[in-house]
Amino acid sequence: QVKPVAGCLRAEDLPTRFRPRPRNSHKGHSGHVLCIGGDAGKGGAVMLAAEAALRCGAGLVSVATRAAHVAALLARRPEAMVQAVESATVLPPLFRRADVLAVGPGLGEGEWGAALHAAALACGKPLVLDADALNLLARNAQSPPAGTVLTPHPGEAARLLGISGSEVQANRFAAAHLLCACFGCAVVLKGAGSVVAAPGELPQVIAAGNPGLAVGGTGDVLTGCVAALRAQGFSAFDAAATGALLHAVAGDLAAQAGGERGLLPSDLFEPLRRLVNP
Ligand code: APR
Ligand code: MG
Repeated sequence: QVKPVAGCLRAEDLPTRFRPRPRNSHKGHSGHVLCIGGDAGKGGAVMLAAEAALRCGAGLVSVATRAAHVAALLARRPEAMVQAVESATVLPPLFRRADVLAVGPGLGEGEWGAALHAAALACGKPLVLDADALNLLARNAQSPPAGTVLTPHPGEAARLLGISGSEVQANRFAAAHLLCACFGCAVVLKGAGSVVAAPGELPQVIAAGNPGLAVGGTGDVLTGCVAALRAQGFSAFDAAATGALLHAVAGDLAAQAGGERGLLPSDLFEPLRRLVNP
């Protein structure tokens, strides 16, 4: 008998991954996600991650971002606890309250982003690393803790592996496998047919999603989805796989409703909510 080398996840696989909430649930049962990012000019990215985490069922969501973004983010989503963070020294109490950190959307690679990134990697909480958190990881030797999920697009994967983007795309399974092996993390290698891999797990291809998702900000939404599932008790691999599937199927529902062209990352929020309540 031939052993499978990879599996495939489709829309039909989603409902089995979500149980109804127990009647006596309280917010502490659903986890607290802390989203870290949003350097000058990039506040929207961290807010998209935060709102996605709320819509995917996180019990509490905090945001650590530049002071300049606080008012706008609170006006958009008063449910988020938005904290002005101008230096990493104010982070430890925020870390203590959080169950999972989503680091990277709009973080930048400057001094501010690098300081927050280093503090997050050292704090011992489970991490979801995306965008500039991956670019910073590629530049220094600090290794992420066990149970981390990396969500690179092919360019970010290439930087992490020290190869070209076309080499990543020529063998996406090998690239995902190498990232797992090098960093000891679960990985979502994004793009048409995202590949999800983790040490000791059968890799999975996401058979959902569409070119409508090829717009700035959809990656930030994925970060929030994965972090919310991680906070609700999914393992790193299950959060990566279920999060990537949720996000792709939400993209398909959004495209069915209004077309691929002009789809906005925020159009994913309502479908995400429906999908986590099968
Ligand atoms: N088919 C299916 N899914 C797709 C497709 C496609 N053709 N194109 C993109 N996607 C999905 C990916 O799988 C991923 O989940 O959309 C999401 C895109 O994520 P990112 O590439 O991280 O995009 P995002 O970060 O939102 O915006 C691009 O990233 O690196 C920075 O500088 C870059 O500003 C740019 C930003
Ligand atoms: Mg991105």
